[in-house]
Amino acid sequence: MKVLVIGSGAREHALCRSLSLDPAVTSLYCAPGNAGIAEIAELRQVDAMNAGAVADLAAELGADLVVVGPEGPLVAGCADAVRARGIACFGPSGTAARLEGSKAFAKEVMAAAGVPTARSYVCTTPDEVDAALDAFGPPYVVKDDGLAAGKGVVVTGDLAEAREHAASCERVVIEEFLDGPEVSLFAITDGTTSVALQPAQDFKRVGDDDAGPNTGGMGAYSPLTWAPDGLVDDLMATVVKPTVDEMRRRGTPFSGVLFVGLALTSRGPRVIEFNCRFGDPETQVVLARLQTPLASVLNASATGRLGDLEPLRWRDGAAVTVVVAAANYPATPRTGDPIGGLADAASVPDAYVMHAGTRRAEDGVVLSSGGRVLSVTATGDTLAAARDRAYEAVSRIRLAGSHHRTDIAARAVKGEISV
Ligand code: AMP
Ligand code: GLY
Repeated sequence: MKVLVIGSGAREHALCRSLSLDPAVTSLYCAPGNAGIAEIAELRQVDAMNAGAVADLAAELGADLVVVGPEGPLVAGCADAVRARGIACFGPSGTAARLEGSKAFAKEVMAAAGVPTARSYVCTTPDEVDAALDAFGPPYVVKDDGLAAGKGVVVTGDLAEAREHAASCERVVIEEFLDGPEVSLFAITDGTTSVALQPAQDFKRVGDDDAGPNTGGMGAYSPLTWAPDGLVDDLMATVVKPTVDEMRRRGTPFSGVLFVGLALTSRGPRVIEFNCRFGDPETQVVLARLQTPLASVLNASATGRLGDLEPLRWRDGAAVTVVVAAANYPATPRTGDPIGGLADAASVPDAYVMHAGTRRAEDGVVLSSGGRVLSVTATGDTLAAARDRAYEAVSRIRLAGSHHRTDIAARAVKGEISV
């Protein structure tokens, strides 16, 4: 099978790595990719936001399957354009991708499907904003309605800051604060049948102990050793199935991966957000443990045959990933710095360095080219072992001004998380 992956982050690196290990994949392409992906897939240039150009590339390569990584191209109709050429595509249509593209739309679908989520108001004027903030009280949760790469959400006890963020957005969703540990669940679906991957936990804030602003994600681990029994089955029944059924009922079936971000509150699980693509960095740890060949899973979703798929198989043990971010991320990150120690880091047993924002200069040196630069992933028999290896590998990387969280998976290892 010839597979083309669209995107250029660590998530795409993780997807490409798993696909490259799948014997059914005979040719693997990635566009536009990055310096790390170039070592396992053939890179092609494309403007991923140009759906027609992506479809042209897929046709030119004779791809049997296209896997669209990021939300932007999906919302822009990339999967529609590829399918219009008769090529199987993993990822939702532009219409279905609105589950991520508009927080207000997601709330409407959740309400219609009876999916538990935070109570919320959609506001467009300062008066509506003030009324909503007043109705819920602190901590305030203010979300930009549109796509914002994980940075459109402000959670703050400071009323002035909440108001200021709302004023900077055209349309905002203001909602009640949800407490309790967060979970990321990926459900692969073909629009009718859905299959859960193992859940992971992401670390959204930039600093240790959840200090500082939200980011795209600074690290992750899986499995969730502390999760209540039956959590995944419960979420499939109360969240994923009703949502997938509601999307189909509307005539806009959702296929691809439905990424459910949840808080496990004292009143039960509540959806924080839907995304229409794999999460980054959660994908790095989830796929590190998936034993079933990935192309068979993605292709079954793309071709409406998930019902025929054997139950997924998983490796024992755990995986941890730590994101190495550029100086000044998540504000305006510094780019163009040389990255050293990559081979040394990769030589740590069971460690693998996924590239996020990197590119190779003409002289062969790998340079930083984005805010999240690397996602250093390791597996181990236990969460503690995986964590130690991931941090050992991170310690071998040299990138001036870079920073990373030192507490990824730390509380889970210590048994400090409870629902
Ligand atoms: P989102 O982009 O919707 O995932 O929000 C980013 C992050 O903000 C989430 O992962 C949570 O950590 C936090 N967050 C979002 N909504 C809420 C909420 N209603 N209550 C508490 N924290 C939230
Ligand atoms: N890690 C969260 C996200 O991908 O949005």
